[in-house]
Amino acid sequence: MSLPNIPLSPFWMPFTTNQDFKANPRFIARAEGHYYWSDDNRKIYDSFSGLWTTGLGHCHPKIVEAVQKQVAELDYAMTFQMGNFKAFDLAERLCKMAPDGFEHAFFCNSGSEAVETALKIALAYHRAKGEATRTRLIGRERGYHGVNFGGISVGGISANRKTFSPCLIPGVDHLPHTFNLSESAFSKGLPKWGAHLADELERLCALHDPSNIAAVIVEPAAGSTGILPPPEGYLKRLREICTRHGILLIFDEVINAFGRIGASFAAERFGVTPDIITTAKGLTNGVIPMGAAIVTGEIYNTIVQGPPHIIELFHGYTYSGHPIAAAAGLATLEVYEEEGSFEEAKSLEPIFEEAIHALADHPKVIDIRNIGLMGAIELIPHEGGPGLRGLEAHKHCFWHEDMVIRNGADILQFSPFLNSKPDDIYMTFDKIRRTLDAII
Ligand SMILES: Cc1ncc(COP(=O)(O)O)c(C=O)c1O
Repeated sequence: MSLPNIPLSPFWMPFTTNQDFKANPRFIARAEGHYYWSDDNRKIYDSFSGLWTTGLGHCHPKIVEAVQKQVAELDYAMTFQMGNFKAFDLAERLCKMAPDGFEHAFFCNSGSEAVETALKIALAYHRAKGEATRTRLIGRERGYHGVNFGGISVGGISANRKTFSPCLIPGVDHLPHTFNLSESAFSKGLPKWGAHLADELERLCALHDPSNIAAVIVEPAAGSTGILPPPEGYLKRLREICTRHGILLIFDEVINAFGRIGASFAAERFGVTPDIITTAKGLTNGVIPMGAAIVTGEIYNTIVQGPPHIIELFHGYTYSGHPIAAAAGLATLEVYEEEGSFEEAKSLEPIFEEAIHALADHPKVIDIRNIGLMGAIELIPHEGGPGLRGLEAHKHCFWHEDMVIRNGADILQFSPFLNSKPDDIYMTFDKIRRTLDAII
């Protein structure tokens, strides 16, 4: 199979080194199960489950069938003042899967939109409660909350912020990140060091006064910044401080949810319940774009009141609750249950942990971190510049090891399928060792 000779310039690729890619393009033509096939018909192992999206494997037959059936039955209907059964059904299923007390889901199309939705709901909630001074939002250094203006404002990855810094939303502060090489390098699972960093929230409360603070948003286990599992006890402390001061706690579970850390949600895995959960990716196994902000009954009931002819929350997307996305979501949640995917992921965790940490002896490696089926290998940057070695590893894997990996600068990231076989995991890190030996 070979793709037609299409021009590469018109598609401005996201989060891509466009010049480098277009000089040396890597095309995927089809996918099935744990593999992609490239345009030159090589079978390529996907070590990243899409982009943290596709934990059940590509083209799962049940999800494919649900989408095919839905597109022929109801392709689209607006959800502004109208309903479609699939969206309502999915909201109910999703809330059932979420921790107790989560009773309502607001649908959108991506993780970025889920974050914007959650931040707006937090502001609307306090206002509806008569606490309209609570507008300040607190994120965390090295946090990733998508690419819209709210998300990059509370986010803490400088490359995503610097170009846009004059336009970031005002009234935002950041907690320190929890990464510390000298205290927690090569931690397996949760680092022992760092719970005290949650107390920085008390400092921000003292500085701004809690009456001005609306919400704190964190990824329970940070993903895109290079896998930073929360220090033991950290999330619990954040929860306690938020509760003490009437601040909403938002868990951004766009990556963490749906088995990625061996449970339906990180909230369940860590035994800490936030007030709002954002999610996307695994909600539809990546098949159709969809995100959601899931909230407690208390938040919904506080906002959704007043004269019945007035819209309670002026927010929504043309594709909120899209019937095809909802059909994909329903099929996906069913498969998670039928196949016991979250338990399967949990049982793979020790194998994954052992296999990834086996690379600790490699001279190009400065740290390895893991939680659930999320893992990172951090490389010593090449003297030619940060990011060079990581990109080389990605390209080498694609061309010479028939494997897709993701690199965030010099941090190689792994997100194996929830239904991986141990041999897939061993194979992945054998390929990585050869790659590290071979690259600059
Ligand atoms: C924690 C988190 N929040 C938000 C997003 C943004 O999601 P999307 O790319 O679907 O907008 C991501 C994407 O990786 C994410 O990891």
